[in-house]
Amino acid sequence: MAGANGNVLTKIVHLPGSETIDVYRANGGYVALPEALKKSSDDLIDMVKRSGLRGRGGAGFPAGTKWGFVPKGTNKPVYLCVNADESEPGAFKDRLICAKDPHQLIEGTLISCFAIGSSRAYIYIRGEFAAEARILNAAIEEARRAGFIGKNILGSGWDCEVSVYRGAGAYICGEETGLIESIEGKRGQPRLKPPFPAVVGLFGCPTVVNNVETIACVPHIVTRGWEWFAGIGTERNTGPKLFGLSGHVNKPGVYEAPMGTNLRTLIEEFGGGVPGGRPVKAVIPGGASCPVLRGDEIDIPMDFDSLTRAGSLFGTGTPVIMDDTVCMVRAAWITARFFAHESCGQCTPCREGAGWLQRLLWRIETGEGEEKDIDTLLSVTDQIEGNTICALGDAAAWPARGFAKKFRDEFLQHIREKRCPFGGGSHS
Ligand SMILES: Cc1cc2nc3c(=O)[nH]c(=O)nc-3n(C[C@H](O)[C@H](O)[C@H](O)COP(=O)(O)O)c2cc1C
Repeated sequence: MAGANGNVLTKIVHLPGSETIDVYRANGGYVALPEALKKSSDDLIDMVKRSGLRGRGGAGFPAGTKWGFVPKGTNKPVYLCVNADESEPGAFKDRLICAKDPHQLIEGTLISCFAIGSSRAYIYIRGEFAAEARILNAAIEEARRAGFIGKNILGSGWDCEVSVYRGAGAYICGEETGLIESIEGKRGQPRLKPPFPAVVGLFGCPTVVNNVETIACVPHIVTRGWEWFAGIGTERNTGPKLFGLSGHVNKPGVYEAPMGTNLRTLIEEFGGGVPGGRPVKAVIPGGASCPVLRGDEIDIPMDFDSLTRAGSLFGTGTPVIMDDTVCMVRAAWITARFFAHESCGQCTPCREGAGWLQRLLWRIETGEGEEKDIDTLLSVTDQIEGNTICALGDAAAWPARGFAKKFRDEFLQHIREKRCPFGGGSHS
């Protein structure tokens, strides 16, 4: 959302000093906030609903609908938690917003708080993003000095505090209730839902958790109108989107394009194709938890509904491209190792199952596997899926199942030849 261009594909290029309030204001920043303060909470929620904005954190839940769940008149404080945990392998778009457009995020945070009747926002940032946390803190102080944060903002009578809360490097703290537990000073172990955070969230109070990119869309919806946003992309997948391309592409990076942009276009036109002109063997479309696509499946619109229809997931819209030199068993094992390491251990199917997946995949990768291991692997994924408190279990099961089903022949080749045909089989 750096440029919020939305009509053409754009590599994100930031102006020098884009993280400062002066550059942000010189380019139309902090115009949306005073406009929003003239509107009612209901009008703002309605505007976001009509824009069709769906959460950019992975699940694609409509932001305005989530805001509408916050109960009114409870006499409890309402909280906004901005999710900047971004620990999903392959995802790196929120980091760019925090580093280069912190004021866009802060302005979006303030407007979102006003809309949901909140006076307190936390930006929960992944522990490893130390530089981004410093940049955000500096931007918050600039915004405070300019009168956008604090008491009686712009003479409206409305107060709002925003602060950065640094995590300690745990993927599970990106899950919204794990995040809430973490801000409360506890271990980041997800809570059973319902009750949903909108009703019982941070410190037992109504809480909205939204992704960084979701919140960064809000100022643009206010200044340009919901019709502008809804006019970009497709009917149920609206607005501009940041796509983070990585892996085997000539020009990896973050690109802004309409929701629904074709994956092949992203790879070939924006990623500049695969180095050496090699074929695309596989693509993980939206972060490590999303089931892999084969190279012959990449003519697909990158949006929530199209990827779900194709048996995968849009996730965070951050494709990882793999050429024909990549071993699919090894890729599956590396993915499984991540999720096994990051399981919080609360639910048995995830704690034990993710470890099983990792070990089974390692056995196959090192030539020690048997054909029945593939069925055992698939059966473990079935036993994890849907049987855990949060979706980390699913996130571990889906990619393992996807690799084993889409590349079964390659798994069988490892087993029959009793070796990795790509020369793998060691941890390095
Ligand atoms: C294990 C796990 C990790 C997650 N990590 C993140 C994350 O780093 N950032 C994020 O925005 N959402 C993450 N989510 C999704 C959040 O739970 C939540 O749906 C999201 O922050 C809501 O924001 P949105 O509606 O704006 O997308 C994660 C979910 C799970 C299950």
